[in-house]
Amino acid sequence: SGAPVHTCAVIDSTNHYMMAQLDRWQKGECVLAEMQTAGRGRRGRQWHSPFGSQFIMSMYWRLDDGPGAAMGLSLAIGVAVVRALEAQGYHGLSLKWPNDIYMSRRKLAGILVEMSAAVGGLCHLVIGIGINLNLSDEVIAQLDQPCAHLAEQPIMVDRNRLSAAVIQELRNALALFERQGLSAFLTEWNRLDMFMQQPVKVLLGEQVIQGIYCGIDTEGNMLLQDKDGVRKFVGGEISLRAD
Ligand code: BTN
Repeated sequence: SGAPVHTCAVIDSTNHYMMAQLDRWQKGECVLAEMQTAGRGRRGRQWHSPFGSQFIMSMYWRLDDGPGAAMGLSLAIGVAVVRALEAQGYHGLSLKWPNDIYMSRRKLAGILVEMSAAVGGLCHLVIGIGINLNLSDEVIAQLDQPCAHLAEQPIMVDRNRLSAAVIQELRNALALFERQGLSAFLTEWNRLDMFMQQPVKVLLGEQVIQGIYCGIDTEGNMLLQDKDGVRKFVGGEISLRAD
């Protein structure tokens, strides 16, 4: 589509900027930045985006059937970003439920979907994506988990081309999701799912639940097999780890 793409050098947070003026955007409109001073991560965490080290963007979208569909939508976004990266030649990519993108089993990119319900069941969405391009050794040492960056793989991809690919895949994926829901993405999600049939720990507040990870259901809930059978997890404040 022809929705505008805005760029800027420094911003507090591209997600915050879009969320603060929701009536201004068309579906598919984007804001890209080189650096964020107050980047937001999932579960209220900070997201560090030093100058030039990441691909940083947010895209506006709108759903007619409200926040109920948003869980599945955020999974479809992960698939779309991986598709864009694989099309540039990157390999070893996988997805960790619900919203992380891994490369060589280390975190490469994060997705933060923020939403705001509006009148008539309508739901505004701001989809934020941060992909590690080239992290310095100092930055890597500061991070709280093992991270990957695209510069590890010997592929010459300029940022313009990467931006165009991610934006195009995202717009296509969101339009497809509107027509067919998550079902159109399940096969690919299953191919990319990092923990499929592996022992994992689920952290649910203070609680730790162990089991075998069994992928997702058609609504995007996570399935875990433990001694009592298959349990379903609906997202929210859950963290998934290798056991
Ligand atoms: C995570 O916690 O894994 C999600 C991180 C999402 C970061 C991106 S960077 C662009 C957009 N703007 C933000 O403030 N956050 C998202």
